[in-house]
Amino acid sequence: MTEQPGPTLSAGMDAVLLLGRYGHQGAAGEGMEALAETVRATGRYLTVRTAIAERGLASLPEGLEACTQAGARKILVIPVFFGRDRSMVHWLSKAAYRWSRERGEPGPEVVFAGAIGEHPALGEAMVRAVSDAESEASVRADDFESLEDPPAWSVIPPQERHVLACMGPRCTSRGAGSLYIHLWKRLQKRELLRGRSGVHAAQTGCLSPCNLGPTMVVYPEGIWYCGLSAAAIDRIVDEHFVGGRVVEEYAREPGRHDERPVPEGAR
Ligand code: FES
Repeated sequence: MTEQPGPTLSAGMDAVLLLGRYGHQGAAGEGMEALAETVRATGRYLTVRTAIAERGLASLPEGLEACTQAGARKILVIPVFFGRDRSMVHWLSKAAYRWSRERGEPGPEVVFAGAIGEHPALGEAMVRAVSDAESEASVRADDFESLEDPPAWSVIPPQERHVLACMGPRCTSRGAGSLYIHLWKRLQKRELLRGRSGVHAAQTGCLSPCNLGPTMVVYPEGIWYCGLSAAAIDRIVDEHFVGGRVVEEYAREPGRHDERPVPEGAR
């Protein structure tokens, strides 16, 4: 029996990176992993990984690096949940190029496939899904243990400060997902996760000054911290949240074009 070439994957690729749009923890992550498993099952690739553009891990550069560490010399990136957002996909291909250039050594080739949202087979899959769903049972009250939502959702957490951490695509590609986890661990270590003197941290979409990312804003002072790294987060938690002093090295003023370079180690 002659082996049939794959219908959509280019010959010569040894790694595939499925690139989702938003964080895929929990059930959404299982969906991405199931798609990756389908590609793995072809047995044609050295490695098949997943990455995301916004709000979580792994970022596109982290996914490309993981493929490289697995020995890949040619990586195919497939944007999965982008619909027809070509400008975002175009920017992500630039981020991949930048990653390749900044590695500073000969690395793998990176190829960007068209987004799955533009693939003609998607329309057929939708028609089939609609048809399959016609025989599903209606949603009923006895499908749920309770119709009430948890009482804790009616309580604004007591807090002294509120941190909005950017998880937009530019900050994510610079490691904002890993930094957010680092922030939580540092807050936990300093016993600042709960209580009236605590810090309530939340993720946001793009906060605007993408070139200065990763960014976060701290209220009630309204301090913008930019060019964040793990070391910067440690200082901000220790010196600002515990000690009450703004860390000027990472604080930027709203309303002016800031030419200061992003601190070493933050990219
Ligand atoms: S993506 Fe973070 S400021 Fe735009």
